Amino acid sequence: MSTEKHIYQPNPKFAKDAAINSMDAYWKLQNKAIEDYEGFWKGFADEKIDWLSAYNKVLDESNAPFYKWFTEGRLNVSNQCIDRHLADKAHKTAILFEGDRGEVEEITYAQLALHVNRMANLLRHEFNVQKGDRVVLYMPMIPEAAYAMLACTRIGAVHSIVFGGFSSEALKDRIEDAEAKVVITADGAYRKGKPYMLKQVVDAALEQGGESIEAVIVVKRNNEPIEWVEGRDHNYNALIESQHSECPFELMDSEDPLFLLYTSGSTGKPKGVQHSTAGYILWAQMTMEWVFDIKDDDVFWCTADIGWITGHTYIIYGPLAAGTTTVMFEGVPTYPDAGRAWKMVQDHKITQFYTAPTAIRVLHKMGEDEPKKYDLSSLKILGTVGEPIDPPAWKWYYETVGNSNCAIVDTWWQTETGGHIISPLPGATPIKPGCATFPLPGIMTEILSYDGVVKKASEPGLLCITKPWPSMIRNIWGDPERYVKAYFSDVEKDGKAVYFSGDGAVQDEDGYITIVGRVDDVINVSGHRMGTAEIEAAVKKDDHVAEVAVVSRPHELKGESIFIYIVLKEGHINKNIKEHINEVLCSEIGNIAKADHIIEVPGLPKTRSGKIMRRILRSIAKDEEITQDISTLEDPSIVEEIIKKAREA
Ligand code: WT7
Repeated sequence: MSTEKHIYQPNPKFAKDAAINSMDAYWKLQNKAIEDYEGFWKGFADEKIDWLSAYNKVLDESNAPFYKWFTEGRLNVSNQCIDRHLADKAHKTAILFEGDRGEVEEITYAQLALHVNRMANLLRHEFNVQKGDRVVLYMPMIPEAAYAMLACTRIGAVHSIVFGGFSSEALKDRIEDAEAKVVITADGAYRKGKPYMLKQVVDAALEQGGESIEAVIVVKRNNEPIEWVEGRDHNYNALIESQHSECPFELMDSEDPLFLLYTSGSTGKPKGVQHSTAGYILWAQMTMEWVFDIKDDDVFWCTADIGWITGHTYIIYGPLAAGTTTVMFEGVPTYPDAGRAWKMVQDHKITQFYTAPTAIRVLHKMGEDEPKKYDLSSLKILGTVGEPIDPPAWKWYYETVGNSNCAIVDTWWQTETGGHIISPLPGATPIKPGCATFPLPGIMTEILSYDGVVKKASEPGLLCITKPWPSMIRNIWGDPERYVKAYFSDVEKDGKAVYFSGDGAVQDEDGYITIVGRVDDVINVSGHRMGTAEIEAAVKKDDHVAEVAVVSRPHELKGESIFIYIVLKEGHINKNIKEHINEVLCSEIGNIAKADHIIEVPGLPKTRSGKIMRRILRSIAKDEEITQDISTLEDPSIVEEIIKKAREA
């Protein structure tokens, strides 16, 4: 049976108790949203959110595309995620932490409350962090990272988490863009049995800039020696014990910013995606209930890092708002061997497992039969996110990991969408592998042309979200013009700008949506988003470089890899060019920006007006035949030379 053609029906035993248990139930919800959009959202907002003061309007479109949801409502996300559960879930495990070296710590909702209250008091009273202040987190995957996030939400501070793989330069840029007041970090943590360090990256960032930072709070995790800047650096472990165990939370407005998260776009500078309080937490919680079908005794594991949106929404905010047990893992799923993840599923009786196709491909390659060595019968739902999942990976995930019993939810969404947008519902949607299927109830997607015409079945087009939704991006921090330009200026429908995702997609005869991939200059390496312009800007900082062009090349495990063409200035570097440029990328952006291919070429293919013909460079990187007319190039012979160089590489 070919995986591509076969349709996988929901497991009837599972569907029986599922939150949305049939396509009829799906359509009932979706039709309600189509008929009465605000009424649909009002019903869920009233049911799910612990409002501390009522909102007066569901959706305010008067200043589109700066949409507002649940205006004038008051709530607090740390209350939604912790306090309101204490009546009946105080002794339930909120966070199940497993360290790299295998130690396990179970933190109940009551203990979580204590940690978060203390940390909130620490920030508020020792460091004068006020509502609206920005706090940067540069942290490993340890429980204190969760406490820090929730402590910020408690006092109304806006956190901005910078993934630990970013360099000091990237960290500095993000601190400066957000004008943050405090950095919370750790000495380091453990990975693959060894300590690694983070604090020194913060030190370097603050040597280079980041003037707005008044204090650095350091959690001791691995106790490796670190430098200490007197007056600036503070020891979390020493200060936290004496903090009062109760910290009253701020009453936050529905639209107050909850957090910033920087992501790459098609220009050189990363964008500070700004999320809201009420709309974000509502959808985080609802998608836990619909897509992951969370039940009382479930143990939910999302393998992302908290430095990405997946970690925000599906390790911390969604699971805790839904009152579930969320697994937080410090290490990597391939250490000490390719069975680590499956051993964790067995040990903790994990019910939902959520990861990226790149991780599935790696685990598959390293240990095809490894899942069979463990008891994985607790699993009900398997999730994937970040990039399209290819048929072999899908099949292995479904058959070998899920024992042909678990629905695979292929969730399409983005940093900007806050939560899932298109995904199968595990108890309802007949699944076509590799296909994100249908928009969730309440979400209106359309596949359009640039002039807003709806594409016919099997015609690829631009994936747009045509109505605002509660968890959508609210702004780009400090740059409202860029917000409008990046998301609401490419596609107009019926005279109104609609949200364009940057992805291409296609719908089949049955309405199933398949994601084709980015149509802009953003590439996806192991599920991490990188802007080619951002990489080019970093490479250009090197004095030896005259010209640079960055494209992507398909990669067996990573999905895509970075391919760089470089024209050097007069004279040359007496170093290996690949090593040299990768050093530049590591220091400007971080390890995640390392390129697999870097080739020196005599020139770039340009039109007579000087425009770089990137399509030619993309074809060469993919080793595809060049179909474009190259006779109009300024110097057509350059193409042959580039092809030769690329083949040698
Ligand atoms: C981009 C968003 C959302 C969390 C992870 C990445 C791609 C995401 C899928 C999927 C095909 C996907 C898109 C999207 N993407 N999920 N299920 N199938 N592609 O978040 O860094 O904001 O990247 O990831 O291209 O635009 P992100």
